[in-house]
Amino acid sequence: MDHAQAPVLDALAAYHRAGRYAFTPPGHKQGRGADPRVRAVLGADTFRADVLATSGLDDRQTSGGFVAEAEELMAHAVGAEHAFFSTCGSSLSVKAAMLAVAGGRGELLVGRDAHKSVISGLILSGLRPRWVRPRWDGELHLAHPPSAAEVEACWERWPDAAGMLVTSPTPYGTCADLATIAEVCHQRGRPLIVDEAWGAHLPFHEDLPTWAMDAGADVCVVSVHKMGAGFEQGSVFHLQGDLVDPARLRACADLLATTSPNVLLYAAMDGWRRQMVEQGHGLLQSALDLAGDLRLAIDGLDGLRVMQDEFLGVEASHDLDRLQIVVDTAGLGISGYQAADWLREHAHLDMGMSDHRRISAQLTFADDSHTGQRLVTALQGLVDAAPALPSPTPVELPDPTALELETIALPRDAFFGPTEAVPPRGAVGRIAAEQLTPYPPGIPVALPGERINAAVVQYLLTGREAGMAIPDAADPDLATIRVART
Ligand SMILES: Cc1ncc(COP(=O)(O)O)c(C=O)c1O
Repeated sequence: MDHAQAPVLDALAAYHRAGRYAFTPPGHKQGRGADPRVRAVLGADTFRADVLATSGLDDRQTSGGFVAEAEELMAHAVGAEHAFFSTCGSSLSVKAAMLAVAGGRGELLVGRDAHKSVISGLILSGLRPRWVRPRWDGELHLAHPPSAAEVEACWERWPDAAGMLVTSPTPYGTCADLATIAEVCHQRGRPLIVDEAWGAHLPFHEDLPTWAMDAGADVCVVSVHKMGAGFEQGSVFHLQGDLVDPARLRACADLLATTSPNVLLYAAMDGWRRQMVEQGHGLLQSALDLAGDLRLAIDGLDGLRVMQDEFLGVEASHDLDRLQIVVDTAGLGISGYQAADWLREHAHLDMGMSDHRRISAQLTFADDSHTGQRLVTALQGLVDAAPALPSPTPVELPDPTALELETIALPRDAFFGPTEAVPPRGAVGRIAAEQLTPYPPGIPVALPGERINAAVVQYLLTGREAGMAIPDAADPDLATIRVART
């Protein structure tokens, strides 16, 4: 295929060359109606490129097939059989994959370290999750992706499950042994879905962790806006093999998708694919070299430690994306929350993930020595400022076994059934009716249908006190928790 083409971008350029005008949405009519104060911030070109996809960019019958062609090019670029664009983020793509695999009923094996969008998929579909235990690291207090042996044990226990969903890379950059997990699933004739939201760049450099399609996954979901150069919400789901019907997968996505997809998102994904095919290897090599230099420089700062080797091992993760730089701040006597807040306020830098003792910097091929130096200088500033910062409020971290809450009801039943809001301590022993998700990284600690225990409540309350954000709770301050009414 000719990867010099970018069908959506080319169609947009042709649209403008032809001087098209539309008596259709978007009502701003290529920016004519946009308030100049809005245009001044967003830029006139943003509005100019925001045109209707069908009966606009393409004709009434989409006979130009620009998006379909861009999807084919994307699939070809990464070695998948099919690629589908979504303008509703991986949050939509992952739900579409779950529905296509499980058909809206029955059971699905799911790694319990799943993102909240997967849990939303369980609530909407009514599927019964059969949880696959991640490898909890009691010392680091984080979850490594589930092992292939654990997946096999779960298949033995729940052989009727429709498929398996695993998250890899995690927001920490840690990866599962996807090839062996895919093999284990395929021995049962069942598909593997990989939530690879953090892995859009993986197909384009051999020193990055194995890309899910190369590892034999059936469906994988990537957020092009995370590690690629898409606009926010730009996501692609890829498919190969014959365990999942492509028409079914597209139809499931259609159930959830908008009827007004944003052409800007399509165009950016289309152009990013061309860029990656033509220059991706070199760009990612530079990013990996930069990451290596930054890891050394940050590790050399007093009180900061870059985490890497401890992420890998037999009972840890299988691989690591070294563009995700996770920094332990405990040596400075401050929490990750304090570090992130200080960096935002004093250095105008926003960090990827922050928790009770870590922050992360997510590098992409867009970073260079200038942005890298800015990070190191800011972290040096943090090191200098740390002695004057207050001692962090301690977070009471539960023992990993306490995090494994008992599932009592289907997520859907608990979410849609009668609920009541109770004070947090009164929620102990009750069944959660909402997701309680520290964000980022967005992995729910408790979800609808699980019996809440005292350790989890204590963790969330002390975490909240220390600066943890729990945005999806009905009461993000956790003065109350929503539980199933008895
Ligand atoms: C593991 C994982 N899956 C899915 C998503 C959802 O992706 P999106 O933001 O593209 O909807 C995220 C977002 O952070 C994520 O971290």
